[in-house]
Amino acid sequence: MFLAEIRIRNTEERIQGEDNVRAFLEKQEVLYEHWDPKKLEAGLQEKFVLSDEEKQQILATFDEEIRDLAERRGYKTWDIISLSDATPNLDELLKKFENVHTHTEDEVRAITAGKGIFIIKGTDDVGYFDVELEAGDVISVPEYKPHFFTLMENRQIVAVRLFIETEGWIAHPYADESFGSKQA
Ligand SMILES: [Fe+2]
Repeated sequence: MFLAEIRIRNTEERIQGEDNVRAFLEKQEVLYEHWDPKKLEAGLQEKFVLSDEEKQQILATFDEEIRDLAERRGYKTWDIISLSDATPNLDELLKKFENVHTHTEDEVRAITAGKGIFIIKGTDDVGYFDVELEAGDVISVPEYKPHFFTLMENRQIVAVRLFIETEGWIAHPYADESFGSKQA
């Protein structure tokens, strides 16, 4: 099943379907791949508060996919992030997230449960676009590409993060007057 979807903010245009989404993201230099979310034990497919053992279990389930991606792209370390209403200060955290920023290395997320959106600054002819991601979707936002991340209405996500070095993930604010946080 293919679920990722694009929304171009300036025109409200939506891009759906695997070939169209892949072609669009490729042009925008955003890596998109897909893992089989059903590999994960059923009990973990809808679980958003995780013990360390459960996090290790998720990493072990996707070990082959993680290592394959890491080898191709030079990522050296990975972990699990989970966000839900059980996360302390979720609203504050989301507010902090909703600022356009860049990193000095790729921002890589493989969604293993729940949903999320990356808002990315595309080429000048496209402007900002949203990439809506669900379990199985894997995205890598290139280094120095302005973006931010937020949750969808269900406010629940679990994702594998991959890094070259964790220091690379420091956010550098990107001041952009042309960006209005227009929501759907
Ligand atoms: Fe980021």
